[in-house]
Amino acid sequence: MSAVITAIGGFVPSSILTNKKISETVDTSEEWIIKRTGIKERRIADDDTATSDLAAAAIENLIENYNVDRGEIEALLVATATPDHILAPTASIVCEKSRLTNAFGIDMNAACSGFLYALEMGANMIESGRYKKLIIVGADKMSSIVDYEDRNTCILFGDGAGAVLLEKTESDYGLMKTILKTDGSGVSSLAVPAGGSRNPTSMQSLLHRTHYLKQDGAFVFKRAVAAMSQVSQDALTKNELEADQIDWVVPHQANLRIITAVGESLGIDFEKVKVNIDRYGNTTSATVPLCLWDFKDDFKEGQNLLITTFGAGFSWGATCLKWGVMREKKTVQKTKDSKVEEVLVAH
Ligand code: UT7
Repeated sequence: MSAVITAIGGFVPSSILTNKKISETVDTSEEWIIKRTGIKERRIADDDTATSDLAAAAIENLIENYNVDRGEIEALLVATATPDHILAPTASIVCEKSRLTNAFGIDMNAACSGFLYALEMGANMIESGRYKKLIIVGADKMSSIVDYEDRNTCILFGDGAGAVLLEKTESDYGLMKTILKTDGSGVSSLAVPAGGSRNPTSMQSLLHRTHYLKQDGAFVFKRAVAAMSQVSQDALTKNELEADQIDWVVPHQANLRIITAVGESLGIDFEKVKVNIDRYGNTTSATVPLCLWDFKDDFKEGQNLLITTFGAGFSWGATCLKWGVMREKKTVQKTKDSKVEEVLVAH
C-alpha cells in the first residue's frame, strides 16, 4: 500500500509585481534580476489576504475541479513559514474556511522544504493504514515578511499556494522513498530574526527592520546547489532509479541558476526540469505544489518524477514518485484571475 496524488489545486493572487517596478524603489535593474535569478515577475497578495486565504483558495480549486467530498478528508497538513498568527494554527483557520469538518489540521514549518516534509509525513500516515485521504497544502504570503527596501531579498519572493490530495492506493503508483535532511547550523544564514520567542517584536526590532527576512544569499546559494544535487542523487539510489529513468524534475524554485546547476549535476536534460520561477518567484512552501499544479497536464500515468527542495533551517530533501491516475476532472475551469494589475508593495 502506498500514497498517491489524485488531485491538485493552486492559487496565485492576481496582482503582479514586475522587476521594473522593483527597480524603481531599490538599486537594481530588470536585467540584473533576470540574469542572476531568472525571475521576471511575482504575485503579491493584497493587505486583506492572509496565508490561510491563499491556502483555502488552492484547496477550493482542488475540491471544485476534482469533485472531492470535503467530509472524507481526515487531515490537513499546512506547510507554511508565514502563518496568519503565531498562535492559533493556520491549519485551524483553513479547516474552517474550507469546511473540512472531519479533518484535524496542523501547521508544519520547514520553510522552502515544508511541502516536501509534509508530503513525507502524509505518505507515512497513509502507509500506516490509519488514514485514507489527506490534503497537503503549501502556502506562503512572503510579501508579509519581505523588506522592500532590501535589494538582496525583495527581488526573490512572491505569494501563492498549491494543494494536493493524497490517497491510499494498492497500485504501484505514488510516493517512493524520501530523504529529508536538517542542519541547524544554517539558521542564521536565512531567517526572520525578530518576532518569535527569541527576540519578540519591539521598538528595537522595528527600528532595525529585524522582523523582516534576512539572508546571506551567496552562502545559501552554494549550500542549495550542493545539498539538492547530493540528496537528489541519494534519492535516486535509494529508489534504485537511474537519472535517465526520471521523466520530470520538480525542484524548489529559488533561483534559476540553482535549478540549472542541480539538473546539470544529475545529467538530466533541462527540458525535463520544471520551471515557473520566471512568473512566480520564490513562493517558499508553495513552489513545489504550484509547479505540480502548473504542469500537471504534462505528467502522464506511470512517469517518474523527482522532487527536491532546499530552504531555511537548513532544511532539504528529495523524493521520487510514480505519477498515478488523477481523479476525473469536473469541468475545465478558469483557475487564475484574468485581471492583472501592477502593484507597488511598500511597508
Ligand atoms: O529558498 C530559500 C533558499 N534561498 C536561496 O536559495 C537563495 C540563494 N541565493 C541567491 O539566489 C543569490 O545569492 C542572490 C540572487 C540572492 C544574489 O545573487 P548573487 O549572484 O549570489 O549575488 P551576490 O550576493 O554574490 O552579490 C553580487 C553583487 C554584489 O555587489 P558587489 O559586492 O560585487 O559590488 C551585491 O551587492 O551583486 C550585488 N547585488 C545586487 N545588484 C543589483 C545583490 N543584490 C542585487 C540586486 N541588484 N538586487
